[in-house]
Amino acid sequence: MTAPLLRVEHLEVHYGDLIGVSDVSFDVPEGSVVALLGSNGGGKTTTLNAIAGLIPVYAGRIEFQGLEITGESAFAIVRRGLALSPEGWRLFVQQSVENNLLLGATPLRDRKRVAALLERVYAIFPRLKERRNQRAGTMSGGERQM
Ligand SMILES: Nc1ncnc2c1ncn2[C@@H]1O[C@H](COP(=O)(O)OP(=O)(O)O)[C@@H](O)[C@H]1O
Ligand SMILES: [Mg+2]
Repeated sequence: MTAPLLRVEHLEVHYGDLIGVSDVSFDVPEGSVVALLGSNGGGKTTTLNAIAGLIPVYAGRIEFQGLEITGESAFAIVRRGLALSPEGWRLFVQQSVENNLLLGATPLRDRKRVAALLERVYAIFPRLKERRNQRAGTMSGGERQM
């Protein structure tokens, strides 16, 4: 049996003396979409931030592509190909739509791939291509989420 793309085992995250989440375990098989459902304060954001390396893991283990990534920094995890699309719109609002997309490609070492990846994004979200020269801060909520 091949390893799942992402595996979270008994994840525990603390905020000071408070427990953010404890004993969270799940797999994300390659090619699948997995949704994490729960009430407000249930620990969804905490779980995703911990996987992305944005907050420390207190206990448990995270594996991506069969390799342990627990405790790695966020920038190292992004280079492995695991990225978090944050809630809220963390855009550079004074920059164009296209510059925002190009900024997202900053960690990509093979710069030759950037043009093709940009076209792929524009194929998925034609609206962004239409508005590529527009300031990101002038986009609607739905467009910003794209
Ligand atoms: N920065 C923080 N400091 C202290 N406690 C936090 C912090 N962020 C989240 N929490 C707590 O961790 C728990 C999980 O929160 P969160 O992951 O934001 O839940 P969800 O995203 O499912 O609504 C909650 O009890 C919340 O109050
Ligand atoms: Mg949340």
